Order: sequence, then structure tokens, then C-alpha cells
Amino acid sequence: MKKMISLLMIVVVLASLLVACGNGEKEGSQENNSKVESYTLEGIKNKGKIILGTSADYPPFEFHKVIDGKDEIVGFDIEIAKYIADQLGVELEIKDMDFDKLLGGLSTGMLDIVIAGMNPDPEREKEANFTDIYYESAHSVLIHKENADKIVKVEDLNGKSIGVQIGTTQEELAKTTIENADVLSLSSNPDIVMNLKTKKIDCAIMEEPVAKSFAAANDDLMVVEGISLSAGSEGVAIAVKKGNDQLTEKLNEILADAKAKGLLEKWFVEASELAE
Ligand code: ARG
Repeated sequence: MKKMISLLMIVVVLASLLVACGNGEKEGSQENNSKVESYTLEGIKNKGKIILGTSADYPPFEFHKVIDGKDEIVGFDIEIAKYIADQLGVELEIKDMDFDKLLGGLSTGMLDIVIAGMNPDPEREKEANFTDIYYESAHSVLIHKENADKIVKVEDLNGKSIGVQIGTTQEELAKTTIENADVLSLSSNPDIVMNLKTKKIDCAIMEEPVAKSFAAANDDLMVVEGISLSAGSEGVAIAVKKGNDQLTEKLNEILADAKAKGLLEKWFVEASELAE
């Protein structure tokens, strides 16, 4: 009888152990099934921060500025990013990168959003989700003032050396629409501006407000009034990882709200003043 009882006890103990294990496994697998990716709306809220990728060389969209002795990344896009973080109730972390690495940063999950004055186009739409357009502008040509009477109309660009940022719409434009262009692709816009100032190149192509901004900050440079280049889609939008639809929708709501409140316009004007 005693033997029976202890055997029974062993069976009971073993059985409860098994159940415990089973439960443990179940809990684990449930956690796996509902694993929240860090770049989704929920994931961003869970980690308490949103990671922005940008290329801070593009005033007034995003640029470096020393404020109170401290180097800061500021601009129109940054104000938008701050507002998004605010609305989501999370912190904003900024990663300043080469423009052509931004979409890759979204696919690997290193970045949650990209705001970088980026034009959505069919190629990029294969790689990422884009929000609605939040700003529209065409592309302008920036030149050294000494070239003022040599470059006045689009045809004057033929055969010229043109500075563009790597991986941008402008690089594509220069390579495909301008005859015999000698295209110099660089990773940063200030470098392009430097090449222009030292007359190593004849002109540069940038979004109109960016070209104007560099002209305002550099006495020896100017924007060619008579040239406006179109790449087909003249707007900029926020990018997130492909298929990250819930976040895309939320961002569209936030953008619409900021626009309705007149904030987008206000931030753009302020950023343009700050860039001068
Ligand atoms: N709008 C152009 C593009 O989408 C250039 C954007 C460059 N942006 C920047 N932050 N440097 O390709």
C-alpha cells in the first residue's frame, strides 16, 4: 500500500511537471506568434522611440546648424519628425546617413521612418511604403554667378559638368535627360556646392528650395530662373518599410492634421529662414 502511494505521488509529480513544461512552451510560442516587429506602429510605441533616417545635407529640409555652440540637425523634415514622435508619445532618435543608404536602412529594420525630401517613384515604391506627398516642388539648377549668361535655358546644360547627389532623382535626371552631361555624383550636397564654388563643375541640380537655400547662403552662387526640371513626380513623402501599412496610415493622419493646422507651411518658412 505504501509503495502504491509513493508510486502514485511520483506519477502526480511527474504529471504536474509535464503540464508545467507544456504551459511554458505554449507561452513561449504564443509570444513568438505575436512578436511585434520594432518598426511597426506597435513596436515603435513599445520601444518608446522612433528612429528617423535622414541625410542632413539638404537645407531647408534637413541640415546641420550650430545652435548655442552645439551642432544640431534641424529643418522642415525634422519638425515633421518631432511632431510625429509627439503624436505617438515617443522619443525621436535621428540617424544621419548617406542618402543612398536610407531605403536599405528601412528594409533591414534599422530605421523606422525616412524623411529626407525623398520623391516616391516606381522603383522606390518596390522597396518601401510611401505616405502622401507633404511638399511639392520641381528641380532647379544652381550655378556660379560667373556662369550667369552661359547657362540660362535647359539646352545650355547639354555637355556641361553637373553635380548631383548619389542615388537621387536629380542624378537620374542628369544622366537620362541631359545630352552629353558629364555627371559628377557625390554623397553630400555641401561637397557639390564646394565643387561649384571652386568651378570644378558648371552646375548642380537640386530641389528648388534647396538650390535657393544654398544660393542665399553663398554670395557667389545663384539659381537659374529660367530652368525648372521635372522628374515626373514632383513631391516628397515619408518612407517606411515595405508592407508597414498601419504605420503608413497613421503617418498620413498625422500629416493631414499638421497640414490642416497650417503647421507644415509654418515649419517650412521657419526652416528656410534658419537655413539662411
Ligand atoms: N528629392 C531627391 C530624391 O528623392 C533628392 C533628395 C535628397 N535628400 C537629402 N536629404 N539629401 O532623390
